[in-house]
Amino acid sequence: MSHEDFPTDNQAVVTCGLPYANGDLHVGHLRTYVGGDVYARSLETLGQQTAFVSGSDMHGTPVAVNAEQEGVSPEEFALGYHEEYEATFPKFNVDFDNYGHTHDETNTELTQALVRELDERGYVYEKEIMVAYDPEDDQYLPDRYVEGTCPYCGEHARGDECDEGCQRHLEPGEIEDPVSTISGNPAEYHERTHKFFEVSEFADYLTEFLDRLEGTSNAQNQPREWIEQGLQDWCITRNMDWGIDYPSDEDAESGEKAGADEEDLVLYVWVDAPVEYIASTKQYSERVGAETFDWEQAWNAGEDAEPAGPDAGGEIVHVIGRDIIQHHTIFWPAMLRGSGHVEPRAVMASGFVTLGGKGFSTSRNRAVWADEYIDEGFHPDLLRYYLATNGSFQRDVDFSWDKFRERTNNELVGTVGNFLYRSLLFAYRNYDGAPADVDGASDEVESRINGAIDDFTAAVNDYSIRDVGDAVTHLAAFGNEYIQRNEPWQLVDDDPEEARQVIYDCVQLAKAIAVLFEPVAPEKCERIWAQLGESGSVHNTTVADALEAPDGGLAEPTELFEKIPEERVEELNEKLDARVAEATEGEADEETEESEEAEAADEESEPTMTDFEPLADERISFDDFEDLDIRVGRIESAEGIEGADKLVRLEVDIGAETRQIVAGLKQLHDIDDLEGQKVVVLANLEKAELFGVESNGMVLAAGDQADLLTTHGDAEPGTKVQ
Ligand code: MSP
Ligand code: ZN
Repeated sequence: MSHEDFPTDNQAVVTCGLPYANGDLHVGHLRTYVGGDVYARSLETLGQQTAFVSGSDMHGTPVAVNAEQEGVSPEEFALGYHEEYEATFPKFNVDFDNYGHTHDETNTELTQALVRELDERGYVYEKEIMVAYDPEDDQYLPDRYVEGTCPYCGEHARGDECDEGCQRHLEPGEIEDPVSTISGNPAEYHERTHKFFEVSEFADYLTEFLDRLEGTSNAQNQPREWIEQGLQDWCITRNMDWGIDYPSDEDAESGEKAGADEEDLVLYVWVDAPVEYIASTKQYSERVGAETFDWEQAWNAGEDAEPAGPDAGGEIVHVIGRDIIQHHTIFWPAMLRGSGHVEPRAVMASGFVTLGGKGFSTSRNRAVWADEYIDEGFHPDLLRYYLATNGSFQRDVDFSWDKFRERTNNELVGTVGNFLYRSLLFAYRNYDGAPADVDGASDEVESRINGAIDDFTAAVNDYSIRDVGDAVTHLAAFGNEYIQRNEPWQLVDDDPEEARQVIYDCVQLAKAIAVLFEPVAPEKCERIWAQLGESGSVHNTTVADALEAPDGGLAEPTELFEKIPEERVEELNEKLDARVAEATEGEADEETEESEEAEAADEESEPTMTDFEPLADERISFDDFEDLDIRVGRIESAEGIEGADKLVRLEVDIGAETRQIVAGLKQLHDIDDLEGQKVVVLANLEKAELFGVESNGMVLAAGDQADLLTTHGDAEPGTKVQ
């Protein structure tokens, strides 16, 4: 079974993993929110009716632990962050249709109703389990209140997650040698009655579900392994009072609460958190009216629609980071299925944003903060572009101000901004707008715009926001080439009619760029729209508008993007390096301390060895491989390139000839050491120009550190690699 391509006649719901309301937002979080926003806007640009929703995740032990430390109630503590997030998202043009939180009435009611439904359908049972308990503090220790040793890999782990080792979700009672994170006291295990959700019942369903699940491949492949290893039922209650109460059995004739309800039992945070996706959609519907968006139609599979097939209900797309794939592809679909809801159509799981190859850490201040970025005075759309297009969505990205600058300067300023400015200025000065008496765009330009629309549409259906961005930068690069080739500045005198055509074409291209780039750079595209003298908001346009005749009038163009000077990045790097060094030092100190206390409760998992970019799913043929002309080479000379901090111009002997190749090695290798090195060269890569220097081939290197590939024997330059 496969899904119909976007746009469909159904309503789509795009959701973002809810931020835990227990710390400031950083650039790592923003990958989820910018990713979701770009994707939701892209769907709308295709003409897909879309609700874009999320909310703050208010419950869970990290919130309770941190609130306790600050001496405030968990509710007050979490609401503070909730308000902060509500104010932060708009600063990045992340424009949710509804942003709620998990502690509100809508979510509480829907969560309890969903759990009751699971219970009624027979998917919930009670079981006695061992729960960690601090005898000195007389307190139960759920999840992050307890630390110890992972029973699977032996690494140090938190109560609910082996975040430093094998990354497994841990059930209560599983952790060995438990210790309280609050008091440092050794904990005991006490037997308690808890509620379990029969996830294991859903193994067959989930296997089929994963076959039709779309999105990034990591979200399909990893869960298959977990299912093969055998699914465990899931403990869905906790001994705490911060959370949503387990729904009491209202129908019970005795009026007494049954079994497990007797003590303080709340639902595990991962039960009510994803229900916020539904609750937030509901709040949106209630605000705009069901005629505009009908949440029930989107989420409810209907009374007897237990096998909610792929075409039932709405097109649900979850955008998350790769650390929470299991929750979104196993637990949540099982909850939805077991309660008569619509299953997700796609899960887009991003790679992590790291700093110096390590995970962000809120408590250690090893992060680039969302507010800090804004305070530095950068436009939000620059970061959106960087996050959306720097590498494929599922790949880990090491945050780098240098890279940020490079992409801003080369692509946003050099390609997109440059094309728009030079063509609109020409039109404005010579014709006071789009030239009149032109019978539409030329065939060449129309077909290029159609090509870009096709690329954009394919990108959305491939769940690749990077390709959404690339579709536009390629169109702008074509625009630059088109102007250069046609030289309108000559034509104005030589062939005025042709000059009008060329400039009309450019205005048409500018309009197409505004329409197709809006999902990535919404505010900047609004500005292009205004410069083009178009009415309304570019936000409300769809791909078809890219080919509509330009309005005619033009406002005086101004430069859309500004170059980031090298000194700015040097300053930023200095600040960041100092911060990372301090965080790393702090880490070393703490390792020697006996009890780390709950301070690390908000620490994020660090990437482990398994976090490399996933292996490519698709195989290429041997013929395809043979198309690559890979040769042994020897570096004859190496020198820096003016204006480029990382690039080196190499002369490389590849046997038959010596090639000029530009490579990004400057900060990673001592230039003087490069001469004489044997390297491996991809000789038939298309030529490229970098900082005005032609690069004729590529020197192969491994990873971000550009570890140069070489040979072990005495293969001479020119020898083919096969
Ligand atoms: N509250 C849960 C999600 C519940 S969804 C029903 C949670 N919160 S979080 O605050 O830790 O993360 C919020 C989002 O940011 C998640 O999608 C998470 O994967 C993402 N990221 C958090 N740190 C990240 C990086 N360093 N890099 C990329 N994404 C990261 O998980
Ligand atoms: Zn482990």
